[in-house]
Amino acid sequence: MESKPSKPSMTCLADFEDHAYQILPRNALDYYRSGADHMQTLKDNRRAYQRYRISPKMLVDVSKRDLSTRIMGKRVEFPIGIAPTAMQRMAHPDGECASARAAQELGTIFIMSTLSTSSIEEVAQAAPQATKWFQLYIYKDREVTKKLVLRAEKAGFKALVLTVDAPYFGRRLADVRNQFELPSHLRMANFVGLGDLETKAGQSGGGSGINNYVASLFDQSLSWQDVAWLKSFSQLPIILKGILRADDALTGIQYGASAIIVSNHGARQLDGVLATIDVLSSIKEAVGDRCELYLDGGVTQGTDVLKALALGAKMVFLGRPVIWGLAHSGQSGVEQTLRLIKGELDSAMALSGCTTLKSVYQDLVICPKSLM
Ligand SMILES: Cc1cc2nc3c(=O)[nH]c(=O)nc-3n(C[C@H](O)[C@H](O)[C@H](O)COP(=O)(O)O)c2cc1C
Repeated sequence: MESKPSKPSMTCLADFEDHAYQILPRNALDYYRSGADHMQTLKDNRRAYQRYRISPKMLVDVSKRDLSTRIMGKRVEFPIGIAPTAMQRMAHPDGECASARAAQELGTIFIMSTLSTSSIEEVAQAAPQATKWFQLYIYKDREVTKKLVLRAEKAGFKALVLTVDAPYFGRRLADVRNQFELPSHLRMANFVGLGDLETKAGQSGGGSGINNYVASLFDQSLSWQDVAWLKSFSQLPIILKGILRADDALTGIQYGASAIIVSNHGARQLDGVLATIDVLSSIKEAVGDRCELYLDGGVTQGTDVLKALALGAKMVFLGRPVIWGLAHSGQSGVEQTLRLIKGELDSAMALSGCTTLKSVYQDLVICPKSLM
């Protein structure tokens, strides 16, 4: 008798999340999954997608489909990339190097966090062909900040993603309760030998180690002038991450931003802000084609991606889902995660009459009054 092929154990991104909840140590799990304060926005980032419904087109020949696009002038195989998340080696010993390799393998973008547990140079070496962008936090010590940027440029990173929503960190209650610290076998790899910049996240001081780190080292005076400052010494295009208003998006363009990521930092900063999918179309309306718009926050399935594309995003990024894939099986887990959601997007396109990303129009998605 022929034996049945074994069942696929991971059928959607939620399966990876469930698995991660079972295997990650409590401190790390809480750090990854938490939102700020009472986590109203965390819930809303996901729930908001249910308020939008798809209005599919019929009798379109969908036998050939193409999910590729061009982002900042470069081909990307499908419009789903990896958002910057800090301290990935808590999820898997290969950390950021594994995520970057997965992006390289699948032909998408990897954004590396300033607060990584692998260094810029390690990631560049691990995934030399990946399209890599460097997420930047601005430190009070501007020389330190400038050196980071120049290192990223030298290592082949293609853009700076300036996070504008975090001059200060939101309060994640679980981290305070757990007295969260970076485990002692890990390091803030971009700051080795730089005293507090390397070590302070490993000292909870009775609260959250990461919040203490940020409060003492990040520059809270961050302003629009700093976009101009970055442009004064770096050739890299600047992408603003964390914009939630149309007027800020327009100001960003005036200051020379090449693209914008509509983001609320995975609901980890100001609790009570709108879900990112809810602000996307007003920002798209304001900026039009003047710059590329991307989105992150709460994207967990292919139909979420389709909705974001229809409402104006050219690309979406995944934060936590990549961590859950990483926790499952390193590079392979991240690849499986990306392949799953790419497949879901492909299926959603086939069933809604879309053969290319250009054929995903705004009228594909509606927000019925009964669901508001
Ligand atoms: C554990 C964790 C760490 C993060 N670290 C950073 C970071 O270092 N820099 C940054 O700009 N955003 C950071 N973010 C925000 C993500 O880039 C992204 O905006 C968010 O995770 C998207 O939401 P999602 O997790 O629902 O996909 C982090 C998010 C999480 C969950």
